[in-house]
Amino acid sequence: MPLVSMRQLLDEAAKGGYGVGAFNVNNMEQIQAIMEAAKETKSPVIIQASRGARQFAQDRYLYHLMLAAAELYPEIPIAMHQDHGNSFETCKSAIELGFTSVMMDGSLKEDGKTPTTFEENVEITRRVVDYAHERGITVEGEIGVLGGVEDGHGAGGTGLEHITDPDQAVEFAERTGVDALAIAIGTSHGAYKFTKKPDGSVLKMDVLIEIHKRLPKTHLVMHGSSSVPKELQDIINQYGGKLKETWGVPVEEIQLGIRNGVRKINVDTDNRLAITGAIRKVLVETPEKFDPRDYMKPAREAMKKVVALRMTQFGQAGHAGDYKQLPIEEIRKGYASGALDTRPSVVGSR
Ligand code: G3H
Ligand code: 13P
Ligand code: ZN
Repeated sequence: MPLVSMRQLLDEAAKGGYGVGAFNVNNMEQIQAIMEAAKETKSPVIIQASRGARQFAQDRYLYHLMLAAAELYPEIPIAMHQDHGNSFETCKSAIELGFTSVMMDGSLKEDGKTPTTFEENVEITRRVVDYAHERGITVEGEIGVLGGVEDGHGAGGTGLEHITDPDQAVEFAERTGVDALAIAIGTSHGAYKFTKKPDGSVLKMDVLIEIHKRLPKTHLVMHGSSSVPKELQDIINQYGGKLKETWGVPVEEIQLGIRNGVRKINVDTDNRLAITGAIRKVLVETPEKFDPRDYMKPAREAMKKVVALRMTQFGQAGHAGDYKQLPIEEIRKGYASGALDTRPSVVGSR
């Protein structure tokens, strides 16, 4: 089975009222962990690679690993997504490589740090949408800026400085025609999201709810959605790590988002924590070991557990076999005919 369109996967999620985790990968073991979790929970899958991941793994390795996953698990729909594309060229090369979806993160300049103007964001995103839709490829845009500097992405800060303005979100969706829209509601990338235990709501859910009401057909995306579980932090610190005390996004907040139009939930940090904790444990408890399989197997298993849990919590579990996977050519035709147009003016006039 070839890789599937992310647009189809998210449209189906909207129909079924569930969310789909988008998990970052850099190597074979992470792909295996996701696929085993998907098989166990019967979940559709979004696998995403950042620019750093493409560089680390090398494009051709990454692509063929993805094809291997599609070949080994034909019953599971798998979309492959470029996470945080920083330029037209990054998105174009991802499409040429065979990704079925790209994110053009035009909220930041090419350096991935400096916020752009609204007009700059519209212009670059529109260009990517034109190019991608002509080829049947899905596009995610971003409006508003996430926080988080410690792990290399975003403009820094707490995540509350550049909350998405609903009016701008509507104008952005209208002028770009994106399939999915990442919005900033107070999350940030990496392990250090909140400095105290969240009591009650920590995110701007009212903003999310308003955007969904006004853009019912644009799939909303939550970045920075790791929950940074205390148990995973503890394992790392118990075996010689030095993580500072920190809190992530409560799963209940994500579930509230899913009830209000969130269809794609980005998770990377939780898996990084699970892998690192498992490796540290083996190396500390059995320092005589030196076969990488002795620590990569538990690491892969630890990530699989986290992914399976999230798939269940996001509601995608059980939905892998709900629909027939459409060829990308069918999706291309849908864009060309206007049937897949989600711009609010078009949706409102249907
Ligand atoms: O958005 C951030 C993801 O966690 C990917 O991070 O650029 O370090 O691969 P990365
Ligand atoms: P986390 O760092 O919270 O896992 O977020 C990942 C992400 O948003 C990738 O785009
Ligand atoms: Zn992100």
